[in-house]
Amino acid sequence: MVFWDSQPVVYRPRTLQGGVSPPVPRPWTIVDFNGEDAFAEVASFLEENYVADRSESLRLTYSEEFLRWALSPYATRRAWRFGARADDGSLVGFIGATEIPLVVCGDRENSAVVNFLCVRDDHRRAGLAPALIAALTKAVNATGIFTALFTTSMDIPVEPVATCRYWCRLLDPTVLAEAGFLPQPRDLEVLRAAHALPSVTPERFPALAPSLAGAVAERMERWSSRFALRAAWGKEDILRWISGGVSVFADGSGIGAYNRVSIRTAGKRTINAAYLIALTSDGCAPQELLNRLIVEAARADCHVFFALPVMSLGDALGCAGFLPTNARLSYYLFNWPQKAFCGQDVAFMHW
Ligand SMILES: CC(C)(COP(=O)(O)OP(=O)(O)OC[C@H]1O[C@@H](n2cnc3c(N)ncnc32)[C@H](O)[C@@H]1OP(=O)(O)O)[C@@H](O)C(=O)NCCC(=O)NCCS
Repeated sequence: MVFWDSQPVVYRPRTLQGGVSPPVPRPWTIVDFNGEDAFAEVASFLEENYVADRSESLRLTYSEEFLRWALSPYATRRAWRFGARADDGSLVGFIGATEIPLVVCGDRENSAVVNFLCVRDDHRRAGLAPALIAALTKAVNATGIFTALFTTSMDIPVEPVATCRYWCRLLDPTVLAEAGFLPQPRDLEVLRAAHALPSVTPERFPALAPSLAGAVAERMERWSSRFALRAAWGKEDILRWISGGVSVFADGSGIGAYNRVSIRTAGKRTINAAYLIALTSDGCAPQELLNRLIVEAARADCHVFFALPVMSLGDALGCAGFLPTNARLSYYLFNWPQKAFCGQDVAFMHW
């Protein structure tokens, strides 16, 4: 039986193409990392093995501090971390998750949101990913949580509830070309002109003061309640975003937030990428808010801005100079039977 056939998801049987190599048996031990401060080890493991694109030329790199922040419990939210060690003690697999209250088509469930699933190259296709998923599921279930959300760009035999294409706004084409993120342009000046920052510099987007976190959570809840998949973010979540270095901005016209992630290119250069994680417009056009976020991200030394056309943002992304990429992200619900919906009906973006 294939792994997903035994799981509470909508399984989509597939015919395996010829040439798929048989699993290589390799011993490992699953380790509960919840009691261990193994973040430095996990950070270097992910830097070596986690990828950002299908060609495997871009690698997302997360700092030890970021992972400690992203995968530690806070307020009433739980977190889970599991590693897999080979016989020589080296880390060969990792999976993490945090507890987030999700609302799917009006039904609210405290769920586990899974992140950072990764297996070392020489241990792939040997059943390690299912073993890590099983260990995580058992631990999550033991706390009374039975639903989960996971996202991936990989092709897996499970029906996604939604699929979105990544869009990308170049902020600094010179750095991106030098780092090999873009092919060397024939004419850099033409490229720079095509991706210039908004010509009329918009008013600065004020950084969110912690004292306004509760009010911002309420405004986000009101705005996002029209979408089919969303998180019920509360004041403690927003405070935590700010304390973790997420850039959150708010004024009367709307709320915007992005997270900053480093990407290592094939040429071993590092670029800074902003990922949109929230946009709530109160009466102003979403592209205006996007333009203000773009300017803030460029000022904060981000070289590129990624966003998904969620929350009906498709047109606004185009108007703000974002271009569609080849990368897609699919959203999967675990143990939560649900008909698929459009990516624009999603209001949940994660790091
Ligand atoms: C994704 C990855 C962890 C899979 O590991 P693997 O060793 O090749 O997978 P295994 O052979 O152990 O298990 C394969 C099973 O896990 C499932 N699986 C693979 N990738 C998955 C993912 N990202 N999420 C959930 N399940 C996944 C497969 O569907 C397969 O089940 P099937 O046999 O029923 O089809 C590994 O390729 C990897 O580390 N890639 C780089 C990091 C990455 O892209 N992570 C995903 C980002 S969310």
